[in-house]
Amino acid sequence: MNNLFNKIRSWTRYFLLKLVKDLTPSESKKGPVIRESKNLFQKEIKIPAFISFMFTIIAVYGMLVIGVGVESKIMFAALIFVVATVIFFVSQIQNKERDILEDNDTVVLMCLLFITAILTFQISKEYLSPFVSPVSAFSIMAAMLLSLRLGGVYAVCLSLYMAFLNDMRFDIFLTMLGSAIFVVANVHTIRRRSDFINIGAKTVVANSVLLTMFYFIGIYSSFQLKYNLFYGVLNGIFSVIILLVLMPLFEKVFSRTTNIKLIELSDFNNFLLKRLMLEAPGTYHHSIMTADIAEHAANAVGENSLLARVGSYYHDIGKLKNPMYFIENQTSVYNPHDSLNPEMSRLILISHVKEGVVFAKEYNVDNEIINIIKQHHGTTAMHAFYHRALESGLCIDMEHFRYPGPKPSTKIAAVIMLADSCEAACRSIEEHTTVRIKDMVEKIINNKFVDGQFSVCPITLKDLELMRDSIVSTIMGIYHARIEYK
Ligand SMILES: [Fe+2]
Ligand SMILES: [Fe+2]
Repeated sequence: MNNLFNKIRSWTRYFLLKLVKDLTPSESKKGPVIRESKNLFQKEIKIPAFISFMFTIIAVYGMLVIGVGVESKIMFAALIFVVATVIFFVSQIQNKERDILEDNDTVVLMCLLFITAILTFQISKEYLSPFVSPVSAFSIMAAMLLSLRLGGVYAVCLSLYMAFLNDMRFDIFLTMLGSAIFVVANVHTIRRRSDFINIGAKTVVANSVLLTMFYFIGIYSSFQLKYNLFYGVLNGIFSVIILLVLMPLFEKVFSRTTNIKLIELSDFNNFLLKRLMLEAPGTYHHSIMTADIAEHAANAVGENSLLARVGSYYHDIGKLKNPMYFIENQTSVYNPHDSLNPEMSRLILISHVKEGVVFAKEYNVDNEIINIIKQHHGTTAMHAFYHRALESGLCIDMEHFRYPGPKPSTKIAAVIMLADSCEAACRSIEEHTTVRIKDMVEKIINNKFVDGQFSVCPITLKDLELMRDSIVSTIMGIYHARIEYK
């Protein structure tokens, strides 16, 4: 009991501190607010997490009371139920998804999903049947937009709400929970919007199996079974409609990068990738190779390999501005940097990161990809131009010849940084033997590590080891295939 009180006290303290922090104007918030983007959907939502939580609790409690009846005893029971659910929900986030509480945008999304779900359930129950309530659709949305774990938490909480709204009926709770957990467990199979139809079909199958089970254990009569089965099928159809309508809306408003969005971004008919293919073919080829290497390395450390692949496609799109100033696009022996001073060359190299961010924002590429573009060089030094500056007699600090950063802040950004450098470096190896490739990859990883490029990234030495092995094996695969079929 004491333990529970301590937990409640620490959560309350955490929320109050967060509220005070959110409401206190920081240095950067003083003065006029400059919006980088003109797009309404890309503006940050500035609602403190505590306010979002409180609003959601009050709204959900209000809807629950309207649903079950305004009577003092029931209202008190609803209050206990809401408090218990909030404690369960927050404990799940507090333990494993702490990052979510740091991001106001995500908290608003989380709360909005909950309110929309409860509102939809009330309407379904009022006008059709509780079995039409699309618990699986909202659980899938939570799994895709927030995290797989939260998808499961939503499934439990929303099924409990459905049971409470319907006189604590166990059959409703189990049917909703069973179908929601079944589809959330299959969330990884969703790669296209058309896969939502499969989700609808899986919901129908799960509903039908569970409802038939209740018939066999004598809870339903055959008439009730037919009646509930009809609404169980309607639930699947309703879930598909909800997913098709609400998912793109939430993705857009909250700038969430789902697998569906990534697949759409990886389409080579996409305007930016097409331009890269035509205007900077060398960079395009380098990006494809980097994507292969990064995808496998991300898999090796348990990260989203699709994000690694798509991030790699876009990491160098800034080179579209001046493609000929980058070695992979130079076809003749002429190098335009020969006629430039090292300072100009430095500025051109740095600009490809900034231009990449500008292009990505202009073409509505997601924030997660934009962060990869920003971080793919970290604060690494441009050694070649630094040495040229020294040779030409300039006494310049090495720090001046570093990319401005930021350093990679996620494992995926670190994976792409390494895949990018290793791909470029291994091209220059004359003979692609395992030993040479391994030496080169090891050298690059060690240099980046010693240079402090992973100082703000939650990466371990074990991860670096796994990445090294994966990068070596993918590069070996690429060059082995070329030698074989040459
Ligand atoms: Fe780059
Ligand atoms: Fe690159």
